[in-house]
Amino acid sequence: MSGAEDQKRIAALAAVELVKPGQLVGLGTGSTAEIAIDGLIERTRAGLRIVCVPTSERSASRARAGGLTVLDEPPADGMIDITIDGADQIERGTLNLIKGLGGALLWEKIVAASTRTLVIIADDSKLVTRLGGAVPVPVEVVRFGWESTASRLAALGCRPVVRRTDGAIFVTDSGNLIVDCHFDPIADAADLEVRLSNVVGVVETGLFIDLTSKAVVGSDAGVRIYHR
Ligand code: A5P
Repeated sequence: MSGAEDQKRIAALAAVELVKPGQLVGLGTGSTAEIAIDGLIERTRAGLRIVCVPTSERSASRARAGGLTVLDEPPADGMIDITIDGADQIERGTLNLIKGLGGALLWEKIVAASTRTLVIIADDSKLVTRLGGAVPVPVEVVRFGWESTASRLAALGCRPVVRRTDGAIFVTDSGNLIVDCHFDPIADAADLEVRLSNVVGVVETGLFIDLTSKAVVGSDAGVRIYHR
């Protein structure tokens, strides 16, 4: 097992221990979140009673296959107690995030916005001084007119690339497309989030601003918890 895999595992399993009986739990998407889902399945088999809300069809299937009780979507009223999700980049200090390389950013943001405690789990390669640079900002856009939307995104100073899988355009769980926006390191992620969101044709952005409660990060020295 690689160092990063070990780091993801210890971070995910530490976060799973934060879940309490009777809680409504958001299930993230991605390889680190899947370790957490498996950890919740194990805790449930040992007697923990929880109800879950998924951030993707993939996570919902994994959780249901393991016997977790999974709602189709967040409840109309009331908050999700805790959500455990991964990230593509975590900005030190602010704990602002880039998410969506796994293609689930829209449901992830809806679940995060309905969550009291958003716990982000990652290996320590995800911690950065500034978001952007090596990792693009995924932006979910409606299919109609996506090339014109991409041109408007380019005007904000990025290189937009539509997401493809094996050559075919990737389609999200909500039937939209993702444009990966390659920016230089981002000086003001909160401002960029607003400007991206205002582009006609954009459904949601992968910049998660002021949503993270804590980041549980695995390193070779063990797990470290970061607060905003
Ligand atoms: C899914 O859309 C993403 O936001 C994931 O949370 C992110 O890509 C992290 O995935 P890994 O845990 O596989 O790195």
